Amino acid sequence: MRSNLVILGIETSCDETAASVVARDAEGRGTILSNVVLSQLEEHSAYGGVVPEIAARAHVEALDTLIEQALVEADCRLKDVDAIAATSGPGLIGGLIVGLMTGKALALASGKPLYAINHLEGHALTARLTDGLGFPYLMLLVSGGHTQLVLVRGVGDYERWGTTIDDALGEAFDKTAKLLGLPYPGGPAVEKAAAKGNPGRFNLPRPLVGETRLDFSFSGLKTAVRQAATAIAPLGEQDVADICASFQHAVSRTLNDRIGRGLQRFRALFPEVSDPALVVAGGVAANKALRGTLDVLCTRHGFRFVAPPHVLCTDNAAMIAWAGLERLAVGMEPDALDVQPRSRWPLDSKAETLVGHGRRGAKA
Ligand code: KG4
Ligand code: ZN
Repeated sequence: MRSNLVILGIETSCDETAASVVARDAEGRGTILSNVVLSQLEEHSAYGGVVPEIAARAHVEALDTLIEQALVEADCRLKDVDAIAATSGPGLIGGLIVGLMTGKALALASGKPLYAINHLEGHALTARLTDGLGFPYLMLLVSGGHTQLVLVRGVGDYERWGTTIDDALGEAFDKTAKLLGLPYPGGPAVEKAAAKGNPGRFNLPRPLVGETRLDFSFSGLKTAVRQAATAIAPLGEQDVADICASFQHAVSRTLNDRIGRGLQRFRALFPEVSDPALVVAGGVAANKALRGTLDVLCTRHGFRFVAPPHVLCTDNAAMIAWAGLERLAVGMEPDALDVQPRSRWPLDSKAETLVGHGRRGAKA
């Protein structure tokens, strides 16, 4: 095997069209040579959520150009890469078909191997690209479509310790924002309003706090927000700020409890790991208040808190390229060209399916 490996990555599972070229040296260090992301935020904002049909069409329109741009920025041609990695699930099926078919076509035309990548594996392995993290570690993925606590043992070796039984955390932020008349996407708007609010004004529920299982639930919280808002309607600016602050506080306390238990479980399972780490990924990881909570929690438990840069926490193709490189580097077989996209594809195939673990559509 050559000392330097280079991969082209493609990501189209939700509302970001992305292409990236990443290299990996013999010591396992990664370098992002290019990372191009085109967000479809504007196309979807009028609908208050991602519309699958619009997303798929937007991917078709943009992907060719983005791939070309990623190759040019990396100063390489298709013949220079060792493989092609494309997200093949989980996600919105229309977008997945666009990205995977493009990956297959490029692989066929260039004679390069294809890696069909699980989007969640991309998130799970990013901290090895950015921080050179060694296995095992814990990963909290909090995005618009997922809320999962995952034990990352090795490449292709994942154990899901917790997931949401209803809404994803980003979805709860988005729905709360919609309810309060704040713009989409709701997360940043709720965080901004919360900064001026009183977190103690409303006593909102903290679902599953105290339970030993490590799952999450956010739909009750959303209902409680609706009830609180209805009770004091019409809402003034300060009311909205107070509800947002109370909501964020309840989320923060919930994460504190759930993740705290996860860290303890990790410690008990891996007493020999001297430098344990918790990694966050997903759009919600941008939230400074929640990051602060997790940072303090990690310090208290003697864990390193790893938060990759925002562009690599949200959906991107560098993480897909990197997951492909990790697979290639450990000698995993590439996928056959008849590999199919999968809208549902759990990272941990042994974990039972719980309600609400998939990606949202426009009406969610
Ligand atoms: O990972 P991501 O960019 O896209 C997917 O879900 O695929 O995550 C988007 C989610 C949205 O629900 C958005 O409201 C949430 O992340 N988000 C935030 C913040 N920024 C984005 N949630 C809370 N606080 C934020 N600052
Ligand atoms: Zn994602």
